[in-house]
Amino acid sequence: MGSKDIFKQIENYDEMLKDTAVLEKYGFDYQTRKGEVEKIIDELHPGRLNLVVSEIKEETPSTKSIRLVSADGYLPPFQAGQYINMFVDVGGIRTSRPYSIASAPTQSGYYEIAVRRVDDGFVSNYLLDELKVGALLQSSSPSGNFHYNPLYQGDNLVFIAGGSGITPFMSMIREMADRNTSRRVHMLYGSRVEGDVIYHDELKRIAAAHKNFSFDIVVSEPSEGYAGKKGFINAELIKDSTSSEDCTFFVCGPEAMYDFCLGELEKLSIPQRKIRVEIMGAPKDITLQPGWPAGVNAKDVFKVLIKGKKTIKARAGEPLMSSLERSGINIPALCRSGECSLCRTKLISGKVFQPDGVKLRKSDRRFGYIHPCMSYPLADIEIML
Ligand code: FES
Repeated sequence: MGSKDIFKQIENYDEMLKDTAVLEKYGFDYQTRKGEVEKIIDELHPGRLNLVVSEIKEETPSTKSIRLVSADGYLPPFQAGQYINMFVDVGGIRTSRPYSIASAPTQSGYYEIAVRRVDDGFVSNYLLDELKVGALLQSSSPSGNFHYNPLYQGDNLVFIAGGSGITPFMSMIREMADRNTSRRVHMLYGSRVEGDVIYHDELKRIAAAHKNFSFDIVVSEPSEGYAGKKGFINAELIKDSTSSEDCTFFVCGPEAMYDFCLGELEKLSIPQRKIRVEIMGAPKDITLQPGWPAGVNAKDVFKVLIKGKKTIKARAGEPLMSSLERSGINIPALCRSGECSLCRTKLISGKVFQPDGVKLRKSDRRFGYIHPCMSYPLADIEIML
């Protein structure tokens, strides 16, 4: 087929030719509009945002909320439930971590994130201990698919949150309150101790003002005399929170909570299509994931030959992306949980472990591409960046 014939396959090609002829006839230089759409997209959704820390507030003994304003005068819009990937330099290592936006999309002056202290939290502890008001940071534009869609998810929602997993829900709840929407939401919010419930007062205020929103705090290690709900978010509690047969369940929290709560939802025969799950970051202990090979220890160290560059060392129990960053090599990153495909990298030889849930395309499997944010070396490997 000749090139002209190929163009004829394009829908409306003849109309475009006619339109171009008219533009030429009247002296309009349509070439000047070339790249305009890309420019508008870049302005609305820039690859990198320059941010300034405008406020830091202690929410609980373990958690601070951080408000970020634009250093360039514009923050892109987002959907409640989305995240930004924060780029930081910790001890000379350039790395990043995704944080859900907790503020409502109804205001565009700032993004708020909430950071909780975790054992060995490389980035979280840096943000909690070192960050000061006025500091400059960079992030990605808002991304992610963990947001409410009225067409598919109906008007009856159950949010299951654990610890700092409250943040995407907080954005959704604040938006509901701001817009006065009529959808019904009940949230089950698990916390280890009652004093560590993030945004508790605001949740109470919103629930008091909006009849369609309610929540229960479920404390797993309550103090003596605690009168609220205790234990874990189990099938019984979930069933009591389900206002109709047609609920959609959103789950966000620490790994242990997923495993437990998803099992409880299964006990209630909730279909998969009615469950939305947000996973932020790599598992804490990859060796506990199904399919991890016996005989490989998290502390085992392998060589990673980066074609045309250098050889680095990588621990089996650490995501390959972190090992690369530790060696001063940064590759594109967004979700850091195997979902967005931004970090896809060619594995030339050797073997890596990629846990369930990593969204590899058929072509990735066929041509040997991996997602280093969720790939763990099981032998010496060679990759091409
Ligand atoms: S950063 Fe998204 S898949 Fe690796």
